[in-house]
Amino acid sequence: MDYAELSVMADEARENSYCIYSDFSVGAALLTKGGKVYQGCNIENASYPAGICAERTAFSKAISEGEREFSAIAIAGGPKGEKPNDAYPCGICRQFMNEFVKGDEFDVIVVHNDMSYSVHKLSELLPYSFGPESL
Ligand code: THU
Repeated sequence: MDYAELSVMADEARENSYCIYSDFSVGAALLTKGGKVYQGCNIENASYPAGICAERTAFSKAISEGEREFSAIAIAGGPKGEKPNDAYPCGICRQFMNEFVKGDEFDVIVVHNDMSYSVHKLSELLPYSFGPESL
C-alpha cells in the first residue's frame, strides 16, 4: 500500500460522508503497521458539535477492532462533489491521533486537488504535544 493508493482510498471514503450542514465532505484512510486500511468519513449532526471528523471516525473504527499500531493516515476533503483540496486535520483530530502514535513516526498525508499529496509527520502538525507520556 503506497501513499498514492492510500490517498485514493481517502478520497473514495468521502462518498459516504454525512455532511448535510456543511456540504464539505472529508474522507480518511488509516494504514496500520500490519498493512490494513480503515476508512472513515465525517458524520455531522443537527447538534453541530456532536459531529465527528473523518480522521476520528477512521481511528475509532480501527481502535474498536483492536488495532493499536499505525503508520499513516491520508486525508482528502473539500466541497462535496468537488475534488479534494488540502484539508489539513483539525486541532481536535491532531490531539486524538497523538494518543495512539508517536508523532515523529506517523505520517499525515494531505491530498491536493490533482491527487498529488504532501506528507507531514504528526509532530510537525502538533509540536510540543501533550500525550500519554506527559502524565
Ligand atoms: N472535518 C473533518 O472531517 N476533518 C477535519 O480535520 C476538518 C473538518 C469535517 C468536519 C465537518 O463535518 C466538515 O469537515 C466541515 O468542517
